[in-house]
Amino acid sequence: MANLKTTYLGLELKSPIIVGSSELNNSVERIKKHADAGAGAVVLKSLFEEQILMDIDAQRVNNMYDTYQAVEEQLGYYLKKHTVGDYLTLIKNTKEAVDIPVIASINCASDSEWIEFAKDVERAGADAIEINMFLLPSDAEMEGKDFEKIYLNIAEKVTKTVSIPVSFKIGSYFSALANFAKKLSYTDIKGMVLFNKFYTPAIDIEKETISAGSIFSSQADNGMPLRWIGILNNRVQCDLAASTGVHNGKDVISNLLVGANAVQMVSSILKNGDEQIVKSLEELSAWMDKKGYKTIEEFRGKLSQREMKNPMLLERVQFMKYFADSGL
Ligand SMILES: Cc1cc2nc3c(=O)[nH]c(=O)nc-3n(C[C@H](O)[C@H](O)[C@H](O)COP(=O)(O)O)c2cc1C
Repeated sequence: MANLKTTYLGLELKSPIIVGSSELNNSVERIKKHADAGAGAVVLKSLFEEQILMDIDAQRVNNMYDTYQAVEEQLGYYLKKHTVGDYLTLIKNTKEAVDIPVIASINCASDSEWIEFAKDVERAGADAIEINMFLLPSDAEMEGKDFEKIYLNIAEKVTKTVSIPVSFKIGSYFSALANFAKKLSYTDIKGMVLFNKFYTPAIDIEKETISAGSIFSSQADNGMPLRWIGILNNRVQCDLAASTGVHNGKDVISNLLVGANAVQMVSSILKNGDEQIVKSLEELSAWMDKKGYKTIEEFRGKLSQREMKNPMLLERVQFMKYFADSGL
């Protein structure tokens, strides 16, 4: 019988499926069900930097926006539902209820006083902190290195503030992603999550308005994380977790093959329930048995760029050969 254990951020996980940050992890009851289904760890819903600052000093948050009304509009609903105190209580209660690692998540955009709050998260018993960070590089006056500096500063400060492992969940909008990922891994972070899925705009052509795109990923969206984990495995000094488009056992196996230490799943569990964790782990286990693998380490990274005879396969981006072969 295959052993599904893996290590991620220095933590031992009983399986490589992590239930990613979302409403799926906003109560002890829900998290217990994920653990019973075989999840290796959970990442709690993100607490936002603005919430933490508001708790520290309401006035300071007001200054981040033009008007108090703007603060209310941005945060009012969310703040009413989630307070910083509730978050710490959720960590504490979850730790008492389950025996899998509980990873807290903080969404931030600057290296302000919220960083001290990371200590409270550690004291509440979180096994690790995932920093959910994304700055849309939409400011035409800012250079890539200016954006990168903000990430690196935060990574350095948070890792100095807490002794539990810290990971960074990032997007793919960097001008030289491989170089940046290497630099980020040279801070003391223990892992990177590639990649977050962001709110995307859609257009309502009848009303001629901008609306919200789908919150769910498709399996095709896993192509980006798969490519970059394959490229970065053994090139960065930290663990890698895949996020976006991991929907079933085949996706779990694919991401492990390119070098992921673990995968995060959200959309497919939201749609299909915890049964999806059970099914995906059964698929993984059956595949390992069929292939004769007793542990994940025996095949993890086998298809990463470093291990492949033809490393260009992960770098191919144009469809030239496809069109040549297909006769289209
Ligand atoms: C309803 C919903 C809420 C989410 N909330 C958060 C969040 O608070 N913090 C975060 O880092 N990611 C959040 N995410 C992103 C997920 O953690 C995940 O990265 C993304 O959904 C891609 O994974 P998937 O393809 O398995 O859905 C959320 C996603 C969904 C669908």
